[in-house]
Amino acid sequence: MAEPGPGSGPTGSGGGPADEAVSIRISVSSPERMRELGRRLARLLRAGDLVLLTGQLGAGKTTLTRGLGEGLGVRGAVTSPTFVIARVHPPLGDGPPLVHADAYRLGGGLDEMEDLDLDVSLPESVVVVEWGEGKVEELSEERLHIVIDRAAGDTTDEVREVTLLGIGPRWAGVALGRLAEG
Ligand SMILES: Nc1ncnc2c1ncn2[C@@H]1O[C@H](COP(=O)(O)OP(=O)(O)O)[C@@H](O)[C@H]1O
Ligand SMILES: [Mg+2]
Repeated sequence: MAEPGPGSGPTGSGGGPADEAVSIRISVSSPERMRELGRRLARLLRAGDLVLLTGQLGAGKTTLTRGLGEGLGVRGAVTSPTFVIARVHPPLGDGPPLVHADAYRLGGGLDEMEDLDLDVSLPESVVVVEWGEGKVEELSEERLHIVIDRAAGDTTDEVREVTLLGIGPRWAGVALGRLAEG
């Protein structure tokens, strides 16, 4: 079990969600490794989690989500959600469904997702939102925020710097560092 025990972070509702943050930075050298990172990350996720992916077009957001879908064991190939607002991938086993959304289509922000009439409940799903750069500053939701950048000076255009930032009590004490091992 990758779950931390209770009491591993501050409890109570005194502070805002941004009060406790854990972060890790990982260098990812190929699309296959990005997918692998997604598969590993899936083990840390559970129903109700919101994962926000930030990065330019071609950064690797969909590639990472593809691995997430494989790790979660959901139905359907994960592809770019560009032509739909959100796509639901039902679980093949007893895990949560994956909801994969493109924020470019979500004019009204995340609240709008509640109104989409998806045939799953968001609190019972893992929700992954591909978000453009620089749109999340005012976002208050508890989330795992993943920022993907091309590595500076990388002539092969294959290296990505991935920063994972856990925002809110959900992520306090989650061992994100394990994602960088092996
Ligand atoms: N390390 C890497 N991680 C992810 N994608 C990479 C990497 N190196 C090269 N690529 C390529 O970059 C592109 C990423 O596309 P995609 O995942 O659709 O990005 P986004 O969803 O952020 O627009 C793919 O063509 C992929 O093969
Ligand atoms: Mg994409």
